[in-house]
Amino acid sequence: MLTTMYRCIIRPAERCWRCSVRSVSSAVKRKALPSAFPVLEQPLQSDHHRVYEANLRNSNACHNQYLELREKIRKGGGEKAIARHTQRNRKFLVRERLRLLLDDEDFLELSPFAGFGLPYGDIPSAGCLTGIGRINGLWCVFIAHDATIKGGTAYPITVKKQLRAQDIAIQNRLPCVYLVDSGGGFLPLQSEVFPDKNHGGRTFYNEAIMSAMKIPQVSVVCGSCTAGGAYIPTMAEETVMVHQIGTIFLGGPPLVKAATGEEVTPEELGGARLHAEVSGCVDHFAMGEKEAYDCTRNIVSTLNFQLPDEEEEDEEQTRRRKAEQEPLYNPVELLGLAPKSYNHSLDVKMVVSRLTDGGRFQEFKARYGTTLITGFAKIHGHLLGIVANNGELSYQAALKGSHFVQLCDQRDVPLLFLQNTAPTTAPTVSTTQAEVNSNHLKAQGAMMSAVACASVPKITVVIGGCHGADSYAMCGRAFDPHFLFLWPNAKVSITAPGHAGSLLPADGEREEEEKQEEELNMRLKEECSAFYSSGRLWDDGVILPQDTRRVLRNCLDIIKQRQYQLSTEKLQSPLLRI
Ligand code: COA
Repeated sequence: MLTTMYRCIIRPAERCWRCSVRSVSSAVKRKALPSAFPVLEQPLQSDHHRVYEANLRNSNACHNQYLELREKIRKGGGEKAIARHTQRNRKFLVRERLRLLLDDEDFLELSPFAGFGLPYGDIPSAGCLTGIGRINGLWCVFIAHDATIKGGTAYPITVKKQLRAQDIAIQNRLPCVYLVDSGGGFLPLQSEVFPDKNHGGRTFYNEAIMSAMKIPQVSVVCGSCTAGGAYIPTMAEETVMVHQIGTIFLGGPPLVKAATGEEVTPEELGGARLHAEVSGCVDHFAMGEKEAYDCTRNIVSTLNFQLPDEEEEDEEQTRRRKAEQEPLYNPVELLGLAPKSYNHSLDVKMVVSRLTDGGRFQEFKARYGTTLITGFAKIHGHLLGIVANNGELSYQAALKGSHFVQLCDQRDVPLLFLQNTAPTTAPTVSTTQAEVNSNHLKAQGAMMSAVACASVPKITVVIGGCHGADSYAMCGRAFDPHFLFLWPNAKVSITAPGHAGSLLPADGEREEEEKQEEELNMRLKEECSAFYSSGRLWDDGVILPQDTRRVLRNCLDIIKQRQYQLSTEKLQSPLLRI
């Protein structure tokens, strides 16, 4: 039964990914094969100037929008709610909690802009912070409610964000820490958070399945855990609860009073003492929040992972390694390479040379299907295969893409997709064209299959357009990349604004057609922005072009960590709490 359940949750590709150095003791030193990949000489030329400057202006405008949104989410539920949370309820704010829990601030926050611009309003950070940070050196997923936003209750977008974080924990086999401070479902939207498969209950289902898959889960009760909120700590493998701050109950004191007439305090009904001493729902009692996070850090150090020793380097070795890893050109130039629109795209090799170690790239099939660039490179020492659009995916380009993806899969090399897909595909106008189009379709289908079935980790960065079927072949969201990020200039829509005409049937009145086209283009313009996409959690976040190398390094480190978990062979070991 459980084996069947794993099968439901682990993708076919996931089931077979095994890294070759798994279970090797850290005492065994391994070194990568030496490489001397050629340097991609891609300096900015004077003929790039006009496009570069236009892109740069657009990137600066997008950056301002990014900063504005970041400022808004930092304010959480607003001044009044923050005062209630910190002064009346005497709790730490969610970012202070993370500061106490994690080793440092170099964590990967997931979808910070989720929750903005939704039909039911702006929900800062979707009501909970999620991400991946290090605890005693071990990368762990965290899911931390922000109780300044409507008491930490779950909106539909909160549920979606929690589920995505769990999904990432499953896909990358990462321990998961829940900081629970939630009043359960946001009642006015109960029909959108309760009944369906991927609604609130799925969080608890995942907890059970993750536990059975030996993905460790620890929770900290640092606020109210009412109704749905109560199942997170009780289903986690180990739980810490904070005295006089944490409560766990299905219905609070007002409900008890209404039902039975009894008057009870929250502490009597479901406080830390009761759950640590009487019910046994929690395993550790903490007098204060700081003690709870110290305790959680200690719990994490009992997980059976053996991390590799840090390589000891002298100054000269560090200098040499850094010099080798620095890209050849300044990554800040990526701001002028991030296309304002598809017709502002420069050769994608210019982007690649500003992302890879030393700007080096071992190109594969350089002379074939040149609207797609494929090849091997390193990012902070991690070997990976890069697949990057350099125009519309032609028949040859798609065949080359399939070949390269399968090659990486066979060699167990993770894949990075740099996506900038064309706004529209050419319409069929003649029989000859129809034949070209069907061959194209078959090649695209082949590449989609190769991408979907590749068992290696995949990361997608949308550096420009994310439109049409090419975006599937370039590992869009539906193709389940381990991580998917957008640059702020990215545009996500079935076709780009200004290209709606190609999708509309041309059989009506000219005037009516023009009106329809204009309306659709306006809608596409509004809906295609990176922030619109991220607000709806169609990605794992908007990242700045100049930060891309750092984000990719973190992702590649995170992906690699599964090698260091010991005793994963014993596959079935569900943990049943009392
Ligand atoms: N649905 C919608 N809104 C809710 C809510 C819920 N389940 N629970 C709380 N809120 C709102 C409150 O109306 C309030 O809104 P406001 O800021 O616009 O006034 C805000 O969240 C904060 O609630 P408040 O009670 O003032 O804060 P608190 O810190 O004292 O208590 C809770 C927070 C969550 C402990 C408390 O509100 C509570 O027990 N809520 C009911 C939980 C419940 O019964 N859930 C059942 C879900 S199935």
